[in-house]
Amino acid sequence: MQTFTLNNGVQIPAVGFGVFLIPNDGPTYEATLAALKAGYRHIDTAAGYMNESDVGKAVKDIGIDRKEIFITSKLWLQDYGYENAKKGIENSLKALGTDYIDLYLLHQPYGDYLGAWKALEEAYQEGKLRAIGISNITVNLWNKFKDGMSVMPAVNQVEFNPFTQQKALRQVMDENNIRLEAWYPLGHGNKDLLGNETIVSLAERYNKNPGQIILRWIYQEGVISLPKSTNPGRMAGNIDIFDFELTDEEMASIRALDTGKGTHNPEDPANETRLMGLKIHD
Ligand code: A2P
Repeated sequence: MQTFTLNNGVQIPAVGFGVFLIPNDGPTYEATLAALKAGYRHIDTAAGYMNESDVGKAVKDIGIDRKEIFITSKLWLQDYGYENAKKGIENSLKALGTDYIDLYLLHQPYGDYLGAWKALEEAYQEGKLRAIGISNITVNLWNKFKDGMSVMPAVNQVEFNPFTQQKALRQVMDENNIRLEAWYPLGHGNKDLLGNETIVSLAERYNKNPGQIILRWIYQEGVISLPKSTNPGRMAGNIDIFDFELTDEEMASIRALDTGKGTHNPEDPANETRLMGLKIHD
């Protein structure tokens, strides 16, 4: 699996398997095992997905050296603030059954964000987290928080795909050497995206499916992608994207598909209220 180098030197596999919305106590275990068997070496979970323990069990049971597998998890809002975050990090380590996490993110940009970030920085200095990062951060939110951070985030995980290219955000993140990670890289199965004629014609040209063209484009853009599939063929296919290369012209033709919009606006106060209300434990 091809990797990118993060701003602290850590190598991250360019495509990860996302387990958002896959239930715990079986389904996430099976999906993670299947992904690891298919060749994935990067699993993206979160405390808020409530399936860290299944990911941890699968990583233990697969019989692959822990060092070969890159695990990302994220702190949920309920555990923000310095003291709560320290406990939240310990809870993630415990649920995953590991003594370090490769990448740990602040999942959402609300609440006592900088207090939580300080706890991540400390766990990073202690070696419990190999890299730390942010998620759902817009340009405005970056400007709000950046001066309170001593460790530069390694990544910003945001909605990203050919219809949602985050061009202004990417420029700011590039200036700071923060790598983008794409959630909803396939537009969450958006038929208009997967059926787009530019993408479909490239799929025919390269004998790939439209999802593979999109994921290859994201890779060539230098962005980490986290596609989700429960279909074994598509799961395997989504990492079979390293045997062809899109030309500059083809890259530009997909770049032209940007709508400048996405499905989620982190700055919408209604999202803040809704997400702040989501509890994952007592
Ligand atoms: P399925 O699980 O049946 O494969 P995203 O990662 O952007 O959230 O998109 C996930 C959605 O896209 C799921 O509905 C998944 O369905 C579908 N999907 C995953 N890989 C592909 C692919 N290569 N081509 C088309 N659809 C895909």
